[in-house]
Amino acid sequence: MDERTLRKALSSILLGGLRTFDQTGSTNDVALAWAADGAPNLALVCAEEQTSGRGRGDRRWFSPAGTALAFSLVLRPLPGEEQSVSLFSGLGALAVCEALGMCGLHPEIKWPNDVLINRRKVCGILAEAVWMGEKADSIVLGIGVNVKPEALPPPDQLNFPATSIEAEMGKSVDRLALLRDILESLLHWRGLLGKDVFTNAWENYLAFRGEQVEIRTVGVPARTGQVEGLERDGSLRLRSRDGQVFTVQFGEVHLRPVL
Ligand code: BTN
Repeated sequence: MDERTLRKALSSILLGGLRTFDQTGSTNDVALAWAADGAPNLALVCAEEQTSGRGRGDRRWFSPAGTALAFSLVLRPLPGEEQSVSLFSGLGALAVCEALGMCGLHPEIKWPNDVLINRRKVCGILAEAVWMGEKADSIVLGIGVNVKPEALPPPDQLNFPATSIEAEMGKSVDRLALLRDILESLLHWRGLLGKDVFTNAWENYLAFRGEQVEIRTVGVPARTGQVEGLERDGSLRLRSRDGQVFTVQFGEVHLRPVL
């Protein structure tokens, strides 16, 4: 990835720093190490290719060269954001949805942090916090977007149907313009984190609203319910078949539609 071109494409954004790689293991790992070494707020790590990209739950994230967006942003919690750590994945998902909407697509968020187009996953988000005692010292927001069809792993390695932006649009897209749009949207919504307007915007993209889904959490029996919406803290609100409303907190949670 050519750093000068990237800097030019992102000139409208006040980044805290930029590190680019033609190839790296995982941009989240680089950003976490940089955060531990004092990376400023809004330090960005981008890679053309990741050789050990990571997904949630220690799954692998496939990022072959030149086919995707793979980047991680270091966010230092600002005053008032310490209580909002659970909202940062939603912030990333909302920003990606807005940027895809500007391309004429109709993305949805599979809570907590996957972006879908036509019910297929086009983007995954991995938010990792570095804690200092009870306080989040930094949050690394890692975002992977399938831009070209070649970004997708082989079908036997998929745990949810997947797609790419170019497959959905039938034409090529400017990856750097997309990255800029995502970051601009992210900075806009970060200023509104935790406010009703933020929750409503996030909720407007929520997939499976009014539909039955199954919620799986490690070590807890699976639950099914109809998706109702989001709580202010980013929890998902559902209604069970017997009419009880229950919420599911962000964490190592997996949501599947009930077919
Ligand atoms: C998931 O869907 O489970 C989350 C995938 C997150 C992938 C991105 S790509 C950039 C950043 N670096 C990583 O190693 N992972 C995230």
